[in-house]
Parts: sequence; C-alpha cells; structure tokens
Amino acid sequence: MSTIPLNERIIVALDVDTPEQAKALVKACESHTSYFKVGLQLFMGSWFETVDWIVDRGHKVMLDLKFFDIPETVKLAVEQVNNRGVSLATIHGNDPIIRAAVSARGDLKLLAVTVLTSFGEEDMRAMGMTQSVADLVYYRARRALELGCDGVVSSGLEAEKMRQGLGEKLLIVTPGIRPGANVRDNSDDQTRIVTAGMAIKSGASHVVVGRPITKADDPIRVIAGMQQEIEEV
Ligand code: C5P
Repeated sequence: MSTIPLNERIIVALDVDTPEQAKALVKACESHTSYFKVGLQLFMGSWFETVDWIVDRGHKVMLDLKFFDIPETVKLAVEQVNNRGVSLATIHGNDPIIRAAVSARGDLKLLAVTVLTSFGEEDMRAMGMTQSVADLVYYRARRALELGCDGVVSSGLEAEKMRQGLGEKLLIVTPGIRPGANVRDNSDDQTRIVTAGMAIKSGASHVVVGRPITKADDPIRVIAGMQQEIEEV
C-alpha cells in the first residue's frame, strides 16, 4: 500500500448539488489531490457529466452510489459504469449480489460497503443485528474479498484487523475522517471517526474526506495538514 502516491491517498467527497460547484471544488483541490468521490447528491444533480469531466481532466473517480438491489439489477447497473474511466465503485449486499457485480465489473474496481461509518453499536441493535460492528465489518470484508471484490469501505477503527487478517491486496477506503482530536461532534452524523493519519496508520489505503475539506475556508490547508499526518505515519 506504500506504493499509493500521496496525492491519491485522500479522496475528496464532492458532496455538492451542481456540476459547477463540483468543478470549482476539483479546481480548488487538484494541486494537492487527484482523487474525487461522486456520491448520490452530485450524481442526482449531474449524472455522468461531472464524472466524465473529472476523468478527462486526468483525475481518478470513486463513484459511490452503493448499488443494492437484486443481483441482475446490480449487474446491469455495474455495466453502465464500467469501461468509462471510473476507478472505484461501491456496492452492497449478500453473496449473489456481490458475485453479479463482480461478473460485470470490466476495468472497474469494486468496493463492498461493510457497515456505514454513521452507524454505532446502538444502530446495529435497532436494526435487529446482534453482532458487534467490528465483527460484522470483518465478516463482510472477508466475504467480499473471497468473492472477488477489490476492497471495502469501512471506518478506520476496523482497518487494522482487516489489514492484518486479510492481507495487503485489499483496498480499505475509510470515510468518517475528522481532523484533530477523535471526539465525536454530536451535531455531525458520523459516528465511527478517526483522523486521516490514524486511518492510514491502521492500514487504510485511502481516506474519504467530505465536509472537513468542502466546508473549509481554505481546503488546501486542510488537505496539506492531512497529507502531512499521512506522511508522518
Ligand atoms: O462529510 P464527510 O467527510 O462525513 O463525508 C463522508 C463521505 O463518505 C460522504 O460522501 C458519505 O456518503 C461517504 N460514506 C460514508 N460512509 C460510508 C460510505 C460512504 O460516510 N460507509
């Protein structure tokens, strides 16, 4: 994982409404980072326009639409995304769903979403799940890898066990990144949070960062600070 260049370690989540806003953010960040995430909000607002623009500009794109449906539908959705320059896409589901996605991926790398970083133990109980978050993340990651996924999305708190137990090949992409002390801010929806440095030290290959960069007065200062943390580990 040390072969990943520093400017691809931080994936900036372009959580904005319009292609214009997304393009302005890319331009503001691209001197330091070359990896951008397009999620539900922006995709609903611009379909593939922004995705194609970012790819044409020479940057990498993680398309985070978390496909979750019956296997055939997921397979057909993955076919819409592959072979158009997108680097990573996210899927979710059980073995048949993952197998269907893998069968259609083409040049696309697939990440299985394990447990959303906004979920804590209480949320698991409320959904009727008895396993701990850590156990479920590990179980889902092992299955995803065995079924041919390239990696997973998890919080930095689970990264170390996965890196040790599942090897070097697995991509571990970690949202829920918050700068400074790892104290949860109750006004924020993220629950399982760590700093960028902690995530990489624990074995994450990439971190996904949205609001700490996109809402900052000086996004480059935040990115540079996180990159310094990453270099130090
Ligand atoms: O603003 P913030 O840094 O919390 O943004 C995190 C981004 O990562 C959001 O775009 C969110 O959709 C995404 N994400 C996440 N947890 C996951 C998968 C994706 O927060 N498990």
